[in-house]
Amino acid sequence: MRLDKLLANKGYGSRKDVKNILKQKKVSVNNTITKDGSFHVEPTTDLIKVGEETVHYQKYIYLMMNKPPGYVSATKDDSEKTVLDLLPANLQNHHPFPVGRLDKDTEGLLLLTNDGELGHQLTSPKKDISKIYFAEIDGHVTESDVKRFADGLKLKDGYHTKPATLRILAAGESSEIEIVISEGKYHQVKRMFAAVGKRVTYLKRVRIGQLMLDPTLELGHYREMTDSELDLMVRK
Ligand code: URA
Repeated sequence: MRLDKLLANKGYGSRKDVKNILKQKKVSVNNTITKDGSFHVEPTTDLIKVGEETVHYQKYIYLMMNKPPGYVSATKDDSEKTVLDLLPANLQNHHPFPVGRLDKDTEGLLLLTNDGELGHQLTSPKKDISKIYFAEIDGHVTESDVKRFADGLKLKDGYHTKPATLRILAAGESSEIEIVISEGKYHQVKRMFAAVGKRVTYLKRVRIGQLMLDPTLELGHYREMTDSELDLMVRK
């Protein structure tokens, strides 16, 4: 975001006031004085100061990650690498946590924040937030499976799933599908396929509510969410 916008948002006056502060060489970004209001800053990672005062732009951080396999969705683990290990120390200092869980071998869209309220809203079963996954399946997925998923099916432990929308993208000895679910039970997608006698061999979350995984985000990479992405999460 622009430096002048950040300072104005933080209450350092109007754009004109901010211009004056900049002109007076009071503002530094990562210990270098800058007078350029259009200078691009990363509010969560850059050290921005007005005089001796550090500008803490955000109380909360909101990150979108393309989770790679091999990492657990937890803040700490005795034996496994966690998704927090993929963040630099300056972001870990904000104490983010993953919103909801993806299995260790699952890839794709994972949000990390230190905003407990948003985390709660997004994982609350009452909110019915839909999630979309792409999966590869060992086995021939059929229209009869589509119907069983749509009707809701009984998992091995007796739990009846809510209706899920299954779309067959490719079917054969192995199949590719997209599934929309609105609940997040442990191993949900894998257990749903197990219930119809098939095995998930690859799973990737591509969407939560209205928020799509940024297709340019490489596996293991993360970025700050944009304001419009955050709006999408807050609305649904
Ligand atoms: N369903 C699963 O089985 N695993 C995940 O990681 C997410 C949904």
